Amino acid sequence: MNEIVFPTPAAPLTEAEPVTRRVPPPPIGLLAELTHRCPLRCTYCSNPLELDARSAELDTETWKRVFTEAAELGVIHIHLSGGEPTARRDIVELTRHAAEVGLYTNLITSGIGVSPAMLDDLHAAGLDHIQLSLQGADAGVTELVGGYKGGFERKEAFAAEVVKRGFPLTLNAVIHRMNIHQVPQMIDKAVAFGAKRLEIAHTQYYGWALKNRAQLMPAREDVDRTITEVEEARVRLKGVLVIDAVFPDYYARYPKTCNGGWGQRTLSVTPAGFALPCHAAQTIKHLDFWSVRDHSIADIWASSPAFEAYRGTDWMPEPCRSCERKHIDFGGCRCQALALTGDARNTDPACIKSPFHTELGDIAVTESAMESPGPATYRAFSRG
Ligand code: SF4
Ligand code: FES
Repeated sequence: MNEIVFPTPAAPLTEAEPVTRRVPPPPIGLLAELTHRCPLRCTYCSNPLELDARSAELDTETWKRVFTEAAELGVIHIHLSGGEPTARRDIVELTRHAAEVGLYTNLITSGIGVSPAMLDDLHAAGLDHIQLSLQGADAGVTELVGGYKGGFERKEAFAAEVVKRGFPLTLNAVIHRMNIHQVPQMIDKAVAFGAKRLEIAHTQYYGWALKNRAQLMPAREDVDRTITEVEEARVRLKGVLVIDAVFPDYYARYPKTCNGGWGQRTLSVTPAGFALPCHAAQTIKHLDFWSVRDHSIADIWASSPAFEAYRGTDWMPEPCRSCERKHIDFGGCRCQALALTGDARNTDPACIKSPFHTELGDIAVTESAMESPGPATYRAFSRG
């Protein structure tokens, strides 16, 4: 799965409007993970290690009900994602339904296996926007990262078909040690592909990316260089290409406001139908995730125990509880806190106030300096 860069909320919650209430306003975004099936096998994928099998996926009618309920609740954007969402035979029907209930539809795709005829059908169905993943700026790096021969050429051809039909195109490039040297070339490719927006998203270490962290962790000096490269390109390409950038947590001083705050702005639904406050939330094993098979989206948003668990600020221990930034970043990322400290309630170690912060920096320095971290593990369904 590509990184999802949710839009910055138009009216961010501030100190003047503390979030201690239990149920926030309706979500603005729904990440619909239609399937975990995908032709690519990206080493940086943030999908869980235990991928949902095809037999476990929600059927067409259930997804359509979810889209209707989301729109009725107030959701504005739907991200049709996966895996590769076009692996679903009903992708056009689902897209049409999402558009008909008034959602702004964004297809997040690898571009592999999407024929011109399917693009025509998606266009007629009302698809608003396409986000295409970019694993590298040439065939060699693209194949190394994505584990798929011929991937780059197919993406190039797909982008041309997308632009020809007038879709707005965003490229999403997840950056790590295997491709960080190609950031300037990826910027050039985004222009050549006719994209209007490029997301330079340094890897977030969840799922397969966490498993491959030593193989993916970039060196500090390389990250710093990309910051300069992005800044230079933003000036040079003003009016041509918008570049969004997400830099790595492991070298940060403060954490990201993950998904706009837990249960505040967005929700995800897995292929099997579990509603999550973020796409990696199922790593927090003790939480009770409700299924859209049993509950409406409105019910889940208002009452699901998993959404309640870290919503707002009441749940926070110190140092977040008395911190002046607690209504800005909500203590950072719960999934990262769990993965790195063993307790999802802890302050995200990306924060300098976390007792684990130094350890986080040490991990980044040690892993990025490894000359032979061993082969990366390609994303795959378990055989068990
Ligand atoms: Fe954010 Fe908590 Fe760090 Fe304060 S202590 S900056 S609220 S993560
Ligand atoms: Fe789960 Fe950040 S990815 S809270």
